[in-house]
Parts: sequence; structure tokens; C-alpha cells
Amino acid sequence: MDNGEAGRERAPQSSIADEHRLLIEHIDAASNAIDLFFAAPANQAGADARRIIALLEDLRDVAQAHFRHEEALMTKTAFPGFTCHKRDHDYLLKNLIHFTSALSHDTVPFAPDIGVNLRSWLTYHIRKYDDAYMAFIETGTFEAGDEDCEAVS
Ligand SMILES: [Fe+2]
Ligand SMILES: [Fe+2]
Repeated sequence: MDNGEAGRERAPQSSIADEHRLLIEHIDAASNAIDLFFAAPANQAGADARRIIALLEDLRDVAQAHFRHEEALMTKTAFPGFTCHKRDHDYLLKNLIHFTSALSHDTVPFAPDIGVNLRSWLTYHIRKYDDAYMAFIETGTFEAGDEDCEAVS
């Protein structure tokens, strides 16, 4: 329900925050399925593994859509940290795609820390990159030191 607010544009910060919540929900779902996988009897593991892969594929799609949205906003607002920020998106997405593909082809084993790793890459990215971009939207200022990717060519 929009309480008659049709036509009023939402601030980009609130839609980004909604997308971050959605990403966290997807990470929680995958993490919980991984916890269950390691708690389940061995004969259930096959079915649970397929479910985990499906959840990771959903997470990949949600992350990809979110990253595209942020990148479009950064381009629109001429954000000076765009290159570094996008580089981290590309790195995260590439790893998620490769990792999910390796799991689905059985070339990498399931490990109990997958969920922890997913959560830590997301929180690190949000704290380091997304917060700097949100601050830029709100204040119009950006400190190059907020994103120290100068050394990467
Ligand atoms: Fe981002
Ligand atoms: Fe983000």
C-alpha cells in the first residue's frame, strides 16, 4: 500500500536500504539451509545440497540486480568513487557465480562457513563502499580515502 503517495519519488537511499535488507534475507536463507545441511543425516544431504544451490542462485540474481541499480545511480550522480565501487561489485559477483557453479558441479565441497563468508563480504562491502556512496548522495562530498583502491590498476 502506498497511502496515496503515488507519484512521489522515493529517495534513492531508501530503495538501496530495502535492497540491502532483501540481500540479507537471501543470505540468511542460504546460511540457514547450510546449517541444516550439516545437521541433517547423510541420506538427506543430496536434496539439501540442491536447495542450497538454488538459494545461492537466487542470491546471485538479487545481488546482480542490486549492483546494477547502484551502478546506474552512481553514474547518474557522477559519483567520483564509481570505478572502485564497481570493481568490488564485479569481484563479489564473479566469486559468487564461480562458487555457486563449482558447488553445482561438485568440484568444491560444501563447508559450514559458506554462510559466514557470504555475510562478511556483504557487510564489508556495505560498510566500505555503499556507506561512502550514501554519504555522497546526502552531503555531496566524497573523500578518496573512503575507498582505497588507488593501488589497484
Ligand atoms: Fe555497492
Ligand atoms: Fe549495496
